[in-house]
Amino acid sequence: MLSVRIADFAADHAEICAIRFAVFVDEQQVPESIEIDDRDPHCVHLLAVEDGEPVGTGRIDLALSGKVGRVAVVASRRGQGVGTALMKYAHCIAKDNALDKVWCNAQVSVRPFYEHLGYRVTSEPFYEANIEHVRMERAFSD
Ligand SMILES: CC(C)(COP(=O)(O)OP(=O)(O)OC[C@H]1O[C@@H](n2cnc3c(N)ncnc32)[C@H](O)[C@@H]1OP(=O)(O)O)[C@@H](O)C(=O)NCCC(=O)NCCS
Repeated sequence: MLSVRIADFAADHAEICAIRFAVFVDEQQVPESIEIDDRDPHCVHLLAVEDGEPVGTGRIDLALSGKVGRVAVVASRRGQGVGTALMKYAHCIAKDNALDKVWCNAQVSVRPFYEHLGYRVTSEPFYEANIEHVRMERAFSD
């Protein structure tokens, strides 16, 4: 059974990093030096766990107006709703903290994933970590 919980960036560091490094560094060739950044200690982190095994992670930065990021699901568990469950939990956290919208810098290739969750593109394409991105926002009044 799948569950999503708030993670502690220190206590759950190994699980979060294992997923992020497998997905972003190994799979997408994001430089290792920028994968963990100075916002990590300030974000609310999430872990998706299925049958006791960590299968996905993500974070929301409430101090940056609800910026969602580092959303990653292990390759073998994609297409089964794990990413959606993580995002919906992040949206609940944003609402609980009185934010009226969330946003992200989305990789262009996964734009449909965010559109599926109600996000709309609000910028021209730009490059971050050598990957084409667009800014996307989702208002809760929609
Ligand atoms: C993007 C990612 C988090 C999605 O997680 P997931 O658990 O596979 O997503 P879900 O199963 O909840 O998908 C929900 C919907 O989003 C869309 N979607 C999901 N992944 C997609 C992708 N890679 N490309 C296009 N659309 C996608 C589909 O419409 C899907 O609905 P469907 O299954 O009915 O077709 C996952 O593919 C991943 O970790 N990718 C690598 C890391 C990454 O690119 N992260 C995003 C950084 S901006």
